[in-house]
Amino acid sequence: MKVLITGGAGFIGSHVLSLFVENYPQYNVFNLDALTYAGNLENLKKIESNPNYTFIKGDITDENFINTLFEHYKFDRVIHLAAESHVDRSIKTPLDFIKTNILGTTILLNAFKNTWEDDFQDKLFYHVSTDEVYGTLGPTGLFTETTPYDPNSPYSASKASSDHIVRSYGETYGMPYVITNCSNNYGQNQFPEKLIPLFINNIINKKALPVYGNGEYTRDWLYVKDHAKAIDLVFHKGKNKETYNIGGFNEWKNIDLIKELCKQMDVKLGRPQGDSEQLITFVEDRPGHDLRYAIDASKIKDELGWEPSVTFEEGLAITIHWYLNNETWLNNVTSGAYQSYYNKQYHKAT
Ligand code: NAD
Ligand code: DAU
Repeated sequence: MKVLITGGAGFIGSHVLSLFVENYPQYNVFNLDALTYAGNLENLKKIESNPNYTFIKGDITDENFINTLFEHYKFDRVIHLAAESHVDRSIKTPLDFIKTNILGTTILLNAFKNTWEDDFQDKLFYHVSTDEVYGTLGPTGLFTETTPYDPNSPYSASKASSDHIVRSYGETYGMPYVITNCSNNYGQNQFPEKLIPLFINNIINKKALPVYGNGEYTRDWLYVKDHAKAIDLVFHKGKNKETYNIGGFNEWKNIDLIKELCKQMDVKLGRPQGDSEQLITFVEDRPGHDLRYAIDASKIKDELGWEPSVTFEEGLAITIHWYLNNETWLNNVTSGAYQSYYNKQYHKAT
């Protein structure tokens, strides 16, 4: 089986790709990635020499390139993770999100459909999506697979659109697909623009911790390797045309999570307790900031037997340990273009 994974050099993609290359030597696993600022082949060092792995540098929005690629390789299955993924960036440059997440996904779908429309037997387009498509929750309730879509940021609206287009290919052309909508991931290889790695990096460097608004926003956190395991399960056992929500059963208010992170970092860095908390700085809120996300993951639990394997405290400890032991990785990704992004985004907090 030829499995194409898009975005395999990114955060979640690198974990999914490593899992498939290592656990399924009988599959030929292809990684298609444009290596944007978020893509990093360093994330794949451990598996890059495996005989069942091939890297292809390319952009999913380049229609001729994608069509030629599918004509040549005839990928049996696709796990589509390539995307612009950061909400703050989507507020600054929405067109990049529309292009990659909507147009890029449609170009992939079309190439896949054109390759197999005579016989879709055993073929699959697996679309990796987000819980943000559901919009925001109030203080209670959970997102289920039937919660109406109500996205609020250009990022989430672009992901919602791509989900709809995937579904439309299923209905219109009979293309087999599954979609998973996952909550906030954390763990190794995450680019330090997202909350947890950004704050770890800032604590290491004793820089301000810019908390948006009052910090009372809630997210449901999942360790990235547990997300990769869920994707593995849905890929092999998920039902055609189904959506599965994936979450950590693990809600945290940002400010509580940040205080927990500060506490663990002080221990790890041998600093006095309370030291890192002093870096907390409340800054201007994110426009359209969703108050709360929380996933009801009972469908994937009941139907496929998936559950998170680590607690948040364990996952956070592994994550902190990894960032502290991978200073070169962190330094490499936070030089150059990162600095100009950081200065623009956080000009009031620096
Ligand atoms: P990421 O930003 O870390 O990685 C994205 C990858 O896609 C990078 O390797 C990048 O080079 C590649 N890419 C971007 N544009 C491309 C293009 N035009 N052509 C080819 N490759 C391109 O993202 P992530 O956090 O790993 O998220 C992966 C997927 O999972 C996304 O679809 C995202 O919407 C979804 N998701 C993320 C989270 C999360 O918490 N990070 C949660 C739920 C769902
Ligand atoms: O819910 C799934 C989504 O989770 C994914 O689809 C996205 O790809 C992923 O980026 C993530 O989106 P969020 O916007 O929730 O993640 P982020 O890490 O950017 O922010 C988490 C929370 O922390 C959010 O409430 C905003 C807040 N925040 C974030 C940053 C970067 C701050 O207070 N300060 C910051 O500097």
